[in-house]
Amino acid sequence: MSAQPMTVSYNYREQLCVDSAPGPGTIVIFGASGDLTKRKLLPAIYALFERKLLPEKFAVIGVARTEMTNEAFQEEVREAMAANGDTVTDEFLAKFSYVAGQYTESATFEQLETELKRVSEEHGTEGNALFYLAMPPTMFEPIVKGLAEQGLLEEDDAWSRVIIEKPFGHDLESAVALDKSLKRYIKESQTYRIDHYLGKETVQNILMLRFANAIFEPLWNHTYIEKVEITVAEELGVEKRAGYYDKAGALRDMFQNHMVQMLSLIAMEPPAIFEADAYRDEIAKLISSIRPLEGQDLGKISVRGQYVEAVDSERPAVGYRKEEGVAPNSQTETYVALKLFVDNWRWRGVPFYMRTGKRLPKKSSEIAITFKPIPHSIFKPIRPKDFNQNVLLLRMQPHEGMGLSLEVKSPGSKLCVNTLEMDFSYSDFMQGEDIPDAYERLILDALLGDQTLFVRNDTVEASWRLFMPLLRAWEADLDNVPLCFYPAYSEGPKETNEILEGGSLQWRKI
Ligand code: BG6
Repeated sequence: MSAQPMTVSYNYREQLCVDSAPGPGTIVIFGASGDLTKRKLLPAIYALFERKLLPEKFAVIGVARTEMTNEAFQEEVREAMAANGDTVTDEFLAKFSYVAGQYTESATFEQLETELKRVSEEHGTEGNALFYLAMPPTMFEPIVKGLAEQGLLEEDDAWSRVIIEKPFGHDLESAVALDKSLKRYIKESQTYRIDHYLGKETVQNILMLRFANAIFEPLWNHTYIEKVEITVAEELGVEKRAGYYDKAGALRDMFQNHMVQMLSLIAMEPPAIFEADAYRDEIAKLISSIRPLEGQDLGKISVRGQYVEAVDSERPAVGYRKEEGVAPNSQTETYVALKLFVDNWRWRGVPFYMRTGKRLPKKSSEIAITFKPIPHSIFKPIRPKDFNQNVLLLRMQPHEGMGLSLEVKSPGSKLCVNTLEMDFSYSDFMQGEDIPDAYERLILDALLGDQTLFVRNDTVEASWRLFMPLLRAWEADLDNVPLCFYPAYSEGPKETNEILEGGSLQWRKI
C-alpha cells in the first residue's frame, strides 16, 4: 500500500491582512561589522526597504570598535550585500552612518547621542530608536548601561527599544541574573528577545492552521492524537562556532529555545486574541505544564549524542572532537532526543518525541502529528491495524509546506485501500518569490512595537527550569544518560529508538 502523490489546487482569493506600517525610527546596530549583521540583519533591512515596508523616515547607525568613516561603512554594507547577491542602491546606502568606539566607554554613547540627533534631523526619525545588540551576551549589560546613562533609553517624547539575541543565560541561575542586570536599565516592554524560529513563516503558520480552521481543533487532543514528533535536523557541523558551541551543546543551543517554542505552538491553548500578552501568557502556561524532568528516569526519556567521523566516503566529515576549537575529550552533546509529556487535560498521555542534532543526513525541520488508528474496520478482512494512521506533516524547512496522509479507495472493481498524500508547498504558493526571512518579520515587528513574536522573560526562565535536572545529570555524568556516539550524516544515535513507546516504534526517517 504505497503512498500516491496527489496535487492540490490553491484558492487565490483576495487576502485578508492584519496590516500596519511602522512610524519613523532609527535602527542602531551594535556589532555592525559582525557576522550576524552581514548575514542576517543587512539583508533583512534591505528586503524590507525593497518591499516598501520600512517607513520613509528611517536611518541605520552602525556601531563597532574599528575606526571608520560613514562612507567606508556604507562601502562595507554594499560589499556585504553584494556577497549575498544583492546590488543595493545609493538611496539605501545614504541611510547608513557609523559610530566607532568601545562598548564600555561613555564617549561612545555620547557620540551615539550626537549621531542620533543628527540623523533625526536629516532623516526625520523623530528620536525613535531600535537598538539591536548583535553581540555576545557578556556585552548586553555594558551596552544597556551605557545607553541608559546617556539617557537614550528614556521614552518621554520618543520610543526606545532593545533587541537581544540568545543565549539568554547558560542555565536558570545565569538567566535570572542576566535579566536582573538588564532590568536595572530597561523595562520588559522595551526588551525584545529574539528567537528567530518564531519569525519563520512556517512556524507562524502553525497558529493560523490551528485557529483559522474549524476542522483541526476538535481533533487536537489526546482522544484523537497518538503522538507528536518534532525534528530539527541539521546537515552542518559546528562550523566556526566551537568557542560558543562547545560550552553550550544542543540542549542549550536548540532545545531550551527553538524546540520548546515549537512544542508550545502545537500544544498551547488558543489565546482570546493574538496580541503580545495574551499570546505569551498561553506560552508560559504551556511550558509550565510540561511534565518536570525531575523524578523521571532520564535514561528512559532522553538520549544525548555526539557525532564522530563520517562513514559516508562521499561526504567525508571529521568527528566533533576533531573540529577546530573543540576540546579533544569534549563531552558536549551535538544531538538530543527527548520524550516529553504535557500534563494537562488536552494532552494527557500523548508523547511529544523531540530530537535535534548537527551532522544528520540533511537539513530538515518538521512536525509530524500522528492520529490514532481507526477503532474498527468495516472492510473485512482488512484489519484496523492494516490502515495507515493519518499524519499531518508540517514541514518547517526546507521545502516549506505541509501534507496530510489519507486512506482512500484505489479506483477499480476490487476493494483496495491506498494512502494519498495531500501536499501543499509554499514554493508553489509564492509563485517564484522567496519566502521572507525570519529576521525581516522580527525587525519589522520591533519597529512596530509588537512584542508578540519575542520571547518574554518568564518563558525563558520556565524553559531553563524544565531542563535544569537534565543538565545537572549530564554534568554529573550519570551512567544512566551516557553520551552516545553517531557517525556524521547518520540518523543519530541508535539508542534514540529506545525512548519511543515500548522501544518497538521507529522515528520518521530524516
Ligand atoms: C541557531 C543555533 O539558533 O539556530 C545554531 O545557534 C543553529 O546552532 C541555528 O544552526 C539553526 O537555525 P536555522 O534557521 O538554520 O534552522
